[in-house]
Amino acid sequence: MSYKNVLTRLHKEADEKDGALHERFTDADMKIALSDPKTFYRNLKTEYLAIDETFGEFLYMSARMSRAKTIVEFGTSFGISTIYLAQALKDNGGGKLITTEYEADKIAIAKANIQEAGLSDYVEFRQGDAMKSLEGFEGEIDILFLDGAKNLYVPLLKLLESNFRSGTFIASDNSKMSPDFVVYLKGSERYLSTDISGKQDNELAIWR
Ligand SMILES: C[S@@+](CC[C@H](N)C(=O)[O-])C[C@H]1O[C@@H](n2cnc3c(N)ncnc32)[C@H](O)[C@@H]1O
Repeated sequence: MSYKNVLTRLHKEADEKDGALHERFTDADMKIALSDPKTFYRNLKTEYLAIDETFGEFLYMSARMSRAKTIVEFGTSFGISTIYLAQALKDNGGGKLITTEYEADKIAIAKANIQEAGLSDYVEFRQGDAMKSLEGFEGEIDILFLDGAKNLYVPLLKLLESNFRSGTFIASDNSKMSPDFVVYLKGSERYLSTDISGKQDNELAIWR
């Protein structure tokens, strides 16, 4: 099946499920997301929590424009963002997307979705806490996409900075839930960063 058909199915399911979930979310839930992300995500292990189509297309275009070969993703869930990025690698002529996810059940579903999209050759899955599964990462990273626990955006950046090259592109979702991440980017001369959504939610940066 073409990747577009798979995405159409997944976005439809995600819109229905995530829409209902967002209506249920309380301030207390959001506090747990920051104070105890493991519990927060464990309780949501059957949920998509996915990026929308616009941001997916943006990620795809970013990977095409930068001719990315190596992409690291923090937060696979059921693989929606993974499909956009892996398809870009395929259209770039090859490459590898290393994607990280706590939940084994989510990885199993993401694997099936990515196989259905014909993109398995471009994706390497690392199960467990990304702070561990990406420790000692070797090789240059063209794109880092941050979409996991918000309290780990800064630690993950620090973990991977030695793998950045001039122009490495960092994209993130829900950056307003990680104010220390935005402060860190803005406060470092090594980054140039901006917020494309205008609502401090999709902070983007490059490593100068
Ligand atoms: C917002 S969802 C990712 C959505 C996905 N990028 C998409 O667009 O379809 C965040 C995911 O990150 C995972 N996650 C959160 N913290 C993590 C960590 N420390 N290590 C690995 N995965 C983590 C959660 O289990 C959850 O599935």
